[in-house]
Amino acid sequence: MYKYDKICKNLEETKELAQKFAKLIKKDGCFINLYGEIGAGKTAFVKLVADAIGVKEKVTSPSFVILNEYHSADIPIYHFDLYRLEHEGVKTIVDELREYSQGKCITFVEWAEFSQNEVPFDHIKINVTYDDNDYRKYSFEGIGENCTKIIKGMNS
Ligand SMILES: Nc1ncnc2c1ncn2[C@@H]1O[C@H](COP(=O)(O)OP(=O)(O)OP(=O)(O)O)[C@@H](O)[C@H]1O
Ligand SMILES: [Mg+2]
Repeated sequence: MYKYDKICKNLEETKELAQKFAKLIKKDGCFINLYGEIGAGKTAFVKLVADAIGVKEKVTSPSFVILNEYHSADIPIYHFDLYRLEHEGVKTIVDELREYSQGKCITFVEWAEFSQNEVPFDHIKINVTYDDNDYRKYSFEGIGENCTKIIKGMNS
């Protein structure tokens, strides 16, 4: 397990953080669980990473549709939001989540607390916290060898 914390004072700094992260994951992909309150900045971060990777479509929140897919960049991006499913509903898409953890793709999962025990494979955790202003703290944690390597890359 390896950690990296970054305080972003505004959206521009979050964009720089997202660009740095995008560079490290765009070749081989990875599975990312996002945590944090409503309005913390989970979707904002996914949007900025997708832009940095070269997604042409408009990236929107999947909170109503559960899953958005983007195929216009060199690597496919899957963006889940489990909020509407909650714990019980997540059981219906566990196999799907597992499938999206394999192969070369980038998978983001918002409201990953609802799938806590369903992600036994290597992944990155990002916890987003905030105050009243535009300050956001993004805390990264790598689980597994490859994901640890990615987070080490964030530190260098
Ligand atoms: N430094 C910053 N980094 C990220 N977002 C910021 C920052 N400053 C302000 N914001 C704003 O905070 C909001 C974050 O909303 P966002 O939709 O990303 O939240 P969320 O965590 O996905 O919430 P939900 O649980 O409802 O999906 C956006 O309107 C974004 O523009
Ligand atoms: Mg969101």
